[in-house]
Amino acid sequence: MDKLVIEGGYELNGSIRVSGAKNAALPILAAVILADGEFRISEAPELVDISTMLKLLEELGISSHRDGKTVILNSKFDKEKIEAPYELVKTMRASVLTLGPLLARKGRARVSLPGGCAIGERPVDLHLKALEAMGAEITVEYGYVEAACEKLKGAEITFDIVTVTGTENIMMAAALAEGETVLRNAAQEPEVVDLARFLKKMGADIDGEGTKEIRIKGVKTLNNVDYTVMPDRIEAGTFMCCVAAAGGNLELTNVPLHEMRSTLNKLKESGLNIDKLDDTTINVTKTKPLSATDITTLPYPGFPTDMQAQFMAVMACSKGVSVATETIFENRFMHVAELKRMGAEIKLKDKSAIIQGTDTLTGAPVMASDLRASASLVIAGLMAEGETHISRLYHLDRGYENFVDKLTAVGAKLKRVKE
Ligand code: UD1
Repeated sequence: MDKLVIEGGYELNGSIRVSGAKNAALPILAAVILADGEFRISEAPELVDISTMLKLLEELGISSHRDGKTVILNSKFDKEKIEAPYELVKTMRASVLTLGPLLARKGRARVSLPGGCAIGERPVDLHLKALEAMGAEITVEYGYVEAACEKLKGAEITFDIVTVTGTENIMMAAALAEGETVLRNAAQEPEVVDLARFLKKMGADIDGEGTKEIRIKGVKTLNNVDYTVMPDRIEAGTFMCCVAAAGGNLELTNVPLHEMRSTLNKLKESGLNIDKLDDTTINVTKTKPLSATDITTLPYPGFPTDMQAQFMAVMACSKGVSVATETIFENRFMHVAELKRMGAEIKLKDKSAIIQGTDTLTGAPVMASDLRASASLVIAGLMAEGETHISRLYHLDRGYENFVDKLTAVGAKLKRVKE
């Protein structure tokens, strides 16, 4: 297993291009199940989660290969290939995104039930309830969701909680269902909108994506298309936090600026300079110590839960007391104990972390617990005195493309070593 060794105290100067969004690419790849033929998906980031989705699609009769930043898939209908096995689902919860498309296209699906994960229980009951409302018969047995239907039928569905992959799963299922589906309290996340754009290019009839109410009129067939995945707003935000921690002057290109207003506002509020150079390019500089800033995670357009851990690392060395409140996942503070090992002063109270900014952090051996927690520890390591050793690096590889190389190219001192 690899670990990451970071020598703190080096500014970041230069330019980084943001990669395609993992959380947009995953549902888009799952949606390939909905039609036959060749698909060329550009800006699909080279990540472990994306490889896992491609392996899963292979199991479902869809072969693929990579040509640089583009994944080329060949989708062939095979009614028998309907199973997402435990071995793949256990490494990536987003495998559940195959459930809706399989059911819509093949009338049957057998998808391993995802377990809990470090950040919380994360059930998929809302996905299942919505598919049942569309006429699917669902049983959960021996750890698998078994779903079957003659033909999915449009339905009016109100989600009890805003669910991103839930909205995506049902939007894909509804695209080939009979009649109209109305999704209320739908997720408004930009990645949901990107999936809708992709489905519409395939011929789907969707309206209202990006709002709380999405209307999908089912069509008989969908077509193979080429598509470019949107840039990753969480990766972009993570690099901004890296500058907030380490200092320097970094140009970021391919940034989805319109989709990350809450993150930009909070970083600006803390005193980081972010200058827009054009629609997708910014310059990030730190000219003064940052000041305490509170955040509360919320569904989009609120502050993203996927940025909470990284922002907290920045606040650990900002002036004053910040409060980070997590309202999406019940256990998403695993990074707190590790940040404290590096000298951060953080207290947990209910859903909030109260962070008393300190002047410096000190390098320490720490352990990554999940993807964004890993990024948070890297950010802390960049500004800490001495060396930080981060183990369980596989979490980082699930979601950040060439992270170590990208940071090294702009002056950070970090290397991957065998444990
Ligand atoms: C997606 C993102 C993840 C992000 C999260 C919240 C992908 C692949 N992953 O995850 O990076 O952190 O959105 O922005 O896009 N819930 C239920 N029942 C359900 C579904 C969800 O109770 O059937 C709860 C969850 O436990 C959680 C909340 O709803 O508390 C939101 O979860 P959800 O939006 O579904 O997260 P994911 O789609 O899994």
